[in-house]
Amino acid sequence: MSILVTGGAGFIGSNFVLEWLATHNEPLVNIDKLTYAGNRENLISVQGDPRYRFVRGDVADRDLVARLLLEHQPRAVVHFAAESHVDRSIVGPDAFMQTNVIGTFGLLESVRVYWEGLNHDRRNGFRFLHVSTDEVFGSLNEGDPAFDEESPYRPNSPYAASKAASDHLVRAYNHTYGLPTLTSNCSNNYGPYQFPEKLIPLVLHRAVHGQHIPVYGDGRQVRDWLHVSDHCAALRRMLEAGEPGAVYAVGGSAERTNLEVVEALCELLGEARPGPNYHSLVHMVKDRPGHDRRYAIDARRAMNSLGWAPQETFSSGLRKTMQWYLDNEEWVSRVTTGAYRDWIDRQYHASAG
Ligand code: NAD
Ligand code: TYD
Repeated sequence: MSILVTGGAGFIGSNFVLEWLATHNEPLVNIDKLTYAGNRENLISVQGDPRYRFVRGDVADRDLVARLLLEHQPRAVVHFAAESHVDRSIVGPDAFMQTNVIGTFGLLESVRVYWEGLNHDRRNGFRFLHVSTDEVFGSLNEGDPAFDEESPYRPNSPYAASKAASDHLVRAYNHTYGLPTLTSNCSNNYGPYQFPEKLIPLVLHRAVHGQHIPVYGDGRQVRDWLHVSDHCAALRRMLEAGEPGAVYAVGGSAERTNLEVVEALCELLGEARPGPNYHSLVHMVKDRPGHDRRYAIDARRAMNSLGWAPQETFSSGLRKTMQWYLDNEEWVSRVTTGAYRDWIDRQYHASAG
């Protein structure tokens, strides 16, 4: 038995891989293209682990994926690989269509062929777990009920539209071919190893360097925040107990405006590294085009049918996250300077395995 993970060198994927190998004996194969967002340094602690194999490759490469499936005979595929940053999708949507739509389609095709060749029991036990986002549902107004599994698809950014397309493909592969799929639509994650282009690590990085903290528009947009370890726990529960074909809305019941998040980080930094007035660094800047106003998640299905619940509150998770970034400034610096790209090779003279 083994599982195949795509995009395991990114933020959520790295956390998932590390937690998997810490808690399961089952081998894990990680296929990742190592775009700017993929960082093998995150996985250095498992590099020599015989249960772990890293393969550099594109999920759209059907021959490669087909070979890996035949060789490793996984009982599940967990699909994280994607272009994930909304602002980048506005400036350059092509890569989003290529990976999130065409890449997911290619992966589904390779997996379908493999799955159809399995014997009856293995076909029934197989799972294709698609990791998606609440952004496919569009934007809520204040007072609207939170998104749930029945919410209509109304994606607003090229990123959200590409993820919506991938969700539809996954749904169609379940409906048409019977592929046992699972989809998670999760809210904003935060925690260790997040690329510092996203709000929380960006604020921490800029604040400790005394740089302006850019807040888009009026800063009153609302996001629901979930610690990455709680998302990974929900994904593991979905693999264990999810109904084939099911979709789960996953979130932390922790709605905050962006200004609240930024102010909370400034407070925490003020305690951990007293001195500068971090609040004075906050600068309101031009809004993101098409900026979604509010996301919120009603996670009752995941909680009731999977017995899952977040273990971190936003307050405990944010404090831990801030501490991780303060303790790992060299990681952040290698990411922001681009040195992470060849760090593994220079440090360990290794390019594979
Ligand atoms: P990330 O950008 O940090 O990592 C993406 C990873 O995918 C990188 O390692 C990258 O190298 C890899 N990748 C990109 N294109 C690839 C391709 N064509 N083939 C193989 N690998 C490729 O993203 P993340 O924040 O870890 O998000 C992971 C998944 O979770 C994404 O599908 C995203 O849509 C979804 N998601 C993210 C959040 C969030 O808040 N970060 C919330 C909900 C859902
Ligand atoms: P982000 O981390 O990019 O996630 P997403 O767009 O997927 O929700 O942004 C979170 C929120 O923070 C979003 O409303 C945009 C806002 N934001 C800023 O105000 N300033 C910034 O510099 C960034 C990166 C984001």
